[in-house]
Amino acid sequence: MVKSTGYKIVKTAVFISGTGSNLKSLIRFSRTNQSPISIDLIVSSNPKAKGLKYGKIFKIRKEIFNFEKNQSENKILATFKRYNIEMIFLAGFMKILSKNFITKFKGKILNIHPSLLPKYKGLNTHQRALDNNEKYSGCTVHFVNSKLDSGKIILQKKVKISKNETKNSLAKKILAQEHKLYPKAILKVFNL
Ligand code: GAR
Repeated sequence: MVKSTGYKIVKTAVFISGTGSNLKSLIRFSRTNQSPISIDLIVSSNPKAKGLKYGKIFKIRKEIFNFEKNQSENKILATFKRYNIEMIFLAGFMKILSKNFITKFKGKILNIHPSLLPKYKGLNTHQRALDNNEKYSGCTVHFVNSKLDSGKIILQKKVKISKNETKNSLAKKILAQEHKLYPKAILKVFNL
């Protein structure tokens, strides 16, 4: 598919494990005229992920894979071939991809993380930021490499931590920024 801008639209897959609010914002973005990507596949590590509902709402194919098993990644690669998937966006995806898989998609996997990396890699980011009396936290979109939350940073957004901030209020504030940051980071990767 080529849009009127003349760019070739890159086919992508979004990987989720839970609510899928970033997935929803990425789908919305992908359907605007400025988007260089289409989302052709939703991959979930969790059959109960709430975000799977967006497959039905937006008519996008969904696949559930058990990432505990090695063959899962081979099955994903076969599925990708079928749908010509060239790029992957991790959006609340809570599993760790193998080195082999990441190498196959070098420079083609992006992730969003709810902290100002390199601070607070891994889980429970908001509570850890509060425990350390940080004045700011935020979110980061980065390329995925074989070390957890350590690939090259594409874009970050800082969020101020208020006096009576709780882990939940901070998560909500940061999530709202994530929804804007991920599309911006994609445009940046495509030099748009
Ligand atoms: C988001 O805050 C995302 O940054 C985070 O999980 C949430 C998913 O929300 N991801 C990670 O912690 C990855 N390690 P969503 O399912 O509503 O997009």
